[in-house]
Amino acid sequence: MLIFSVESSCDETSCAVVEMSAEKRAILSNVVFSQIDTHALYGGVVPEIASRAHTEKISSVAREAFSVSGFSPRDMDAVAVTYSPGLIGPLLVGVNFAKSLAYSLKIPLVPVNHIKGHTAAAYFTSDELLPPFLSLVVSGGHTSLYEVKSPTEFDEIASTRDDAAGEAFDKVGRVMGLCYPGGAAMDALASKGFENVKNGYGSRLKFPSPAIGGDTLDFSFSGIKTYAVNAIHTERQRLGLCDGENLPEDFRAEVASGFTAAIVGGICLRLEEALNKTGMKKAVLAGGVAANSHLRKGLSAVAEKCGATLYIPPVSLCGDNGAMIGAQGYFELLEGNTAGTSLNAYASEDASLPRA
Ligand code: KG4
Ligand code: ZN
Repeated sequence: MLIFSVESSCDETSCAVVEMSAEKRAILSNVVFSQIDTHALYGGVVPEIASRAHTEKISSVAREAFSVSGFSPRDMDAVAVTYSPGLIGPLLVGVNFAKSLAYSLKIPLVPVNHIKGHTAAAYFTSDELLPPFLSLVVSGGHTSLYEVKSPTEFDEIASTRDDAAGEAFDKVGRVMGLCYPGGAAMDALASKGFENVKNGYGSRLKFPSPAIGGDTLDFSFSGIKTYAVNAIHTERQRLGLCDGENLPEDFRAEVASGFTAAIVGGICLRLEEALNKTGMKKAVLAGGVAANSHLRKGLSAVAEKCGATLYIPPVSLCGDNGAMIGAQGYFELLEGNTAGTSLNAYASEDASLPRA
């Protein structure tokens, strides 16, 4: 089955063509246009600018996705689109584009939840992977752990009570003068910090854990973020730095590595607890922060310790992209989860979905 898919929930305009069947999962094209350079000027995503940029780009991104795939719109069996959660303006651009395409081609329109889509990126790592499994979705907007019972049935067993992990990475990166979004630069800076520690450069920072206590698997990232921001300001004052003057790289690396170690440690603890509690032997790591090299390494070690297999999409499929929406769209379509031209977009996750 050939599926054309559209993702526009935040600051990436993406369209893909995927081929999905019981035996095969293939990405025939996956074009991602990132608006990061535009939003970097403001230190974060500006929703109105994002909506306009999606509107300007979506037709050319779609055309390129068809051209790279070697197929034409008439060859498609369905159109899948992210309808929730995300920024309402950007979502509406994708939903309306997908609606028009599906209507003109007289093929099913399949609404896809963005978080389920992130998880579905893992289906491309193995033709055999199917639920039940645990899915840890760590992104700029979410940090949640799900028990995935079937490809379309997700039970949330833990989530963040405040910030998402990616949001915390970006905030700390910004306070240290890194470009938005700071996640990838924090990853590299943390590697330098860990190397410094190996060479005897001791860390004085004692970060709290994001794994909150009590009888819950939930996370909290706001305390660890505040600890990092306070440590940065204290060091700036101690050194008497003026605006525009940056902290020495070794100190920034110390913050990045301490912060990363605490986040990775907390998430690893949660996955281990969840694997033991549910008895699951398969887990998926997904979302933009799944690109983090330290998190990938830490969670792989946890899975090995628990005798479980961890499926992690390649870095190119961790951030927002159309192919992951196409993969989830396939499974939604098998369940008959299609929509009509009345399909709306919803910023919040728990919106009710009108059916076709
Ligand atoms: O899933 P995503 O593309 O968008 C949302 O749905 O939120 O995730 C984007 C987030 C950003 O916060 C970005 O800084 C973070 O993923 N990120 C990383 C890395 N690469 C991207 N965070 C930590 N380490 C990375 N290597
Ligand atoms: Zn995302």
